[in-house]
Amino acid sequence: MAESTLSILLADLQKLQTDFNQALLQAEHELALEQVRVKFLSRQGLIPEFVKQIKNLAPEDKIKFGPQLQAFRQTSEQAYLARKDLLTIQATQINSQPVSFKNNFNHKTNNLNFKLDPTGELPNQQFGSLHPYTQVIEKLENIFISMGFRIAEGPELETEFNNFTALNIPDDHPARDSQDTFWLRLPQQLMRTQTSPVQIRELSKQELPVAVIAAGRAYRNEATDASHDFVFMQLEGLLVDKNISVANLLGTLKICLRAIFERDDLEIRVRPGFFPFVEPGLEIDMLCPFCTVGCSVCKRTRWVEIVGAGLVHPNVLKACGIDAQEYSGFAFGFGLTRLVMLKYGINDIRLLHSGKLDFLEQF
Ligand code: DAH
Repeated sequence: MAESTLSILLADLQKLQTDFNQALLQAEHELALEQVRVKFLSRQGLIPEFVKQIKNLAPEDKIKFGPQLQAFRQTSEQAYLARKDLLTIQATQINSQPVSFKNNFNHKTNNLNFKLDPTGELPNQQFGSLHPYTQVIEKLENIFISMGFRIAEGPELETEFNNFTALNIPDDHPARDSQDTFWLRLPQQLMRTQTSPVQIRELSKQELPVAVIAAGRAYRNEATDASHDFVFMQLEGLLVDKNISVANLLGTLKICLRAIFERDDLEIRVRPGFFPFVEPGLEIDMLCPFCTVGCSVCKRTRWVEIVGAGLVHPNVLKACGIDAQEYSGFAFGFGLTRLVMLKYGINDIRLLHSGKLDFLEQF
């Protein structure tokens, strides 16, 4: 082959290389890349066609330039595959981000400039997890539903009547003091100091028998430290029917605590306690689930205080229009915050309430 033909061929090769590289870089989505492949790399494409010119070369040029042309073909194919991978990764990343229609909408074709792949896997997937509160509440709700209870709820902004008066808490009870209660500017309205007003809301419906639990926030006007926050969670339980006794209460609580701590041998003990809305009032402790000889959780006593309970006071039934001669019932209130902290070994309530991801991700 004449020198001039060879140099034209080499110049063409250079141009083809440049054109191909440019086209590849400009291909910003799968469709455009496919067009590049058809134009340059397919059987009839510019590059294979160009390579075919080997046969026109003089034997010594063939030896010299043949490998170079084959290498060009190979590297072009590799570059195309690399570009394809890159676009696939970018497309999945774009699909996982909020789509900016302004930048990605092609007005000529009325199309988005990338293909949505709803089955695509995200690189560096991050999964969320349920908050420890949610996990424990779901578990408790399942246990109680399996025993025939229903889930109830009430508002966090309550009336003085539901939060105190109907619960047999006298006007001069210190709990009503503004040092403990967040009173609102609205008359006789407050942030509930306990979940017990849900009892009043349920009993006032006068649909008996009633068996409900209600988990939710309660508020108390107190200083924050590792074990206190002005907002915390409680779980209230109420069962009113005919002939309900303390035995029913203790059986129910035992089943519940054993399920929560996944210990069939978890024992409870009962102490007298005072809550105006129950009579008798009881404080219920459970055998420390974390030790057998005493530890920091049970303050070396082997018992952990976990729930206040008792038989619903006749005055509460009366305040809700229920015949206290005919009906009786039990009520209990778990310190849900305390329960969650115990279950997961969390020693600072402020962490539990912080919303910090690095802390919450552990559960
Ligand atoms: N409401 C009580 C508190 O906040 C807890 C409680 C005790 C609830 C006894 C009850 C109960 O239903 O019967 O300390």
